[in-house]
Amino acid sequence: MCASKRYTITAALPYANGPLHIGHLAGAYIGADIYARYLRLRGKDIVFVCGSDEHGAAITIKAIKEGVTPREIVDKFHTIIRDSFQQFGISFDIYHRTSEPIHYETSQEFFRILNDKNAFDIRESEQYYDEEAHQFLADRYIVGTCPKCSNENAYGDQCEKCGSTLSPTELIHPRSTISGGTPILRKTKHWYLKLDEYQEYIQKWIESKKSTWKSHVYGQCMSWIDAGLQPRAMTRDLNWGIPVPPEIDGAEGKVLYVWLDAPIGYVSATRQLFKEIEENDFHFAQPKSEQLLGRSKDDWEKYWQSDDTTLVHFIGKDNIVFHCITFPAILKATEKYILPDNVPANEFMNLQGDKISTSRNWAVWLHEYLEEFPGKQDELRYTLIANMPENKDSEFTWQDYQSRVNNELVANLGNFVNRVVVLVHKYYNGIVPQVETASFSTYDNQVLDSINSYADKISAAIESFKFRDALMALNELSSVGNKYLADLEPWKLIKNDPKATEKVLFIATQLCGSLAVLAQPLLPFTVDKLNRIFGVHKGQWLTSDKVLVPSGYQLGQSELLFEKIDDAIVNYQIEKLEKSKSQSQSNDIAYVQVKNEISFDDFSKLDIRTGTIVEAEKVLKADKLLKLTVDLGFETRTIVSGIAEYFSTEEVIGKRVSVLVNLAPRKLKGIESNGMILMAEDNEGKLSFVQSEAPNGMVIR
Ligand code: MF3
Ligand code: ZN
Repeated sequence: MCASKRYTITAALPYANGPLHIGHLAGAYIGADIYARYLRLRGKDIVFVCGSDEHGAAITIKAIKEGVTPREIVDKFHTIIRDSFQQFGISFDIYHRTSEPIHYETSQEFFRILNDKNAFDIRESEQYYDEEAHQFLADRYIVGTCPKCSNENAYGDQCEKCGSTLSPTELIHPRSTISGGTPILRKTKHWYLKLDEYQEYIQKWIESKKSTWKSHVYGQCMSWIDAGLQPRAMTRDLNWGIPVPPEIDGAEGKVLYVWLDAPIGYVSATRQLFKEIEENDFHFAQPKSEQLLGRSKDDWEKYWQSDDTTLVHFIGKDNIVFHCITFPAILKATEKYILPDNVPANEFMNLQGDKISTSRNWAVWLHEYLEEFPGKQDELRYTLIANMPENKDSEFTWQDYQSRVNNELVANLGNFVNRVVVLVHKYYNGIVPQVETASFSTYDNQVLDSINSYADKISAAIESFKFRDALMALNELSSVGNKYLADLEPWKLIKNDPKATEKVLFIATQLCGSLAVLAQPLLPFTVDKLNRIFGVHKGQWLTSDKVLVPSGYQLGQSELLFEKIDDAIVNYQIEKLEKSKSQSQSNDIAYVQVKNEISFDDFSKLDIRTGTIVEAEKVLKADKLLKLTVDLGFETRTIVSGIAEYFSTEEVIGKRVSVLVNLAPRKLKGIESNGMILMAEDNEGKLSFVQSEAPNGMVIR
């Protein structure tokens, strides 16, 4: 492994505008935690830092939505996020926040340095301004009609319906989300980082990473570079954020762009960590290795400004440009800081066939999981590692979670350990038997040797950020153990060869001990249980010269490592997802007036009734039409409806519906249609029937 003197490991600072979900975990945090735990086990000098990202429009928009202050938002979510990380066992040495004074100081210091080094260009441009609210509008504060797909609620930076990237001036009919009014263009000044001047440097630097960085990360960087780096504004007209240092002329009222201050959060977190260590007064820090204790407050500099430090950023793919181009350019501009050695970004994890979405509430929330599945952190961690989107998007499903737990954790690792512990207790009162190594067969030795070869595989995989491979190697080692027991059948052997049985169970116990050691970076909660049984010294990596569980050692009582997940749990979770999604859809939609106002008289002209579809057939030569027979209680009618693309005939038969019955008859493809079935259309254009529980023929008003 690379012989760096020390390591600075960072994990993306999550926005404190919502709780954590499995996508966050799979994207950045589990990988970072495996890596950090592993390096600590190898005795490396590391810091592992993170914290809440508390600035930017992500926060202020959430505050407006909830009708509270940004401060209340960040306080609430910082606490939820911090506690979830802690309970889930992510082993940060510090979990800081970007609203802390030391972070303001550090960020302003960076701004000063950049300014002194002439890294900025001050430019004037026209930006949308809300005259009622007296403020410039961040991209996210402007909505309007998407020029590409006509979605009326596209944001100033992106249309969430068609996915295109936009700039606010491209929107048709822009409106301010603060006042609802039409914003005007007004001149403003901003400090642009001259990224174009770093083009050559960054390009050479990235090219030097070709063989060590993930190809999708390298590829994304190169496509930005090929497109040509453009100056990027590092200031904003916002009233939430870190003020531009006051001595900078003409920047009153401006704050730092959130993507300038956030990555500096890694630096300020490191400073805070060493400060708390020196003062022995812990608020945000919880140093995880002994070697950090007793350090002094200035030591943070070594982790950021010394060439013999390896800096690694763990992030999700949407953060690549900021960590591989913008922040490195900033670090370089200081002429003091080191650049990242690697940025092993992951791609995205989907959920049950759909993109994870906070606004649609399509997510598995970590704080909810921790509450609903107490003590089952490793079951989730295992499933997320096994499906980690290391090189392409992946998917989490509850069915897969169940099968991973039942068929892998329970059936393989859990089963092996349990069989060994039960047998050693049954035959030897739990005391590890004596053996003579001279009596070991070739097979015995092969099994023992596999401990070291799998340890090497796991190390190599973790060192190259292939966490799925590391987990699979751990599984294989446990399979070696299961096979060994199945081949030698100690439960039969005991009857005619007690000596050989002692040997088999001794060797199997060593395998268990090795699993306890090797699982440390991967399944930390399970390791605690294994340690209670096997007493393997925690906190160390495997060394080949040591017997893991010596003869004569009294094993602890057998404990259930994992238990099976029932179908009922899976079904419950899937239903919960579906339910919360449909609820959030109804909560989250802004009222956009689509039709002109009508009088009550106009309304009372409509005769809407409940009914049931009793027959359905496709209309020949019309892809969209179904000919429906609807029972209205007082009569049955034929109605032609344009829903054939969404529903099959079998699906609609028996459906309860609402029907506008006094609509003048009209002919569609030669069939007379008498009325109209009412349908609701969701954001994605999916249709559903408007249903009532009243019997057929009842009036809806
Ligand atoms: N808050 C950002 C996000 O959730 C990540 C910030 S990472 C850091 O996408 F570099 F800014 F720290
Ligand atoms: Zn669009």
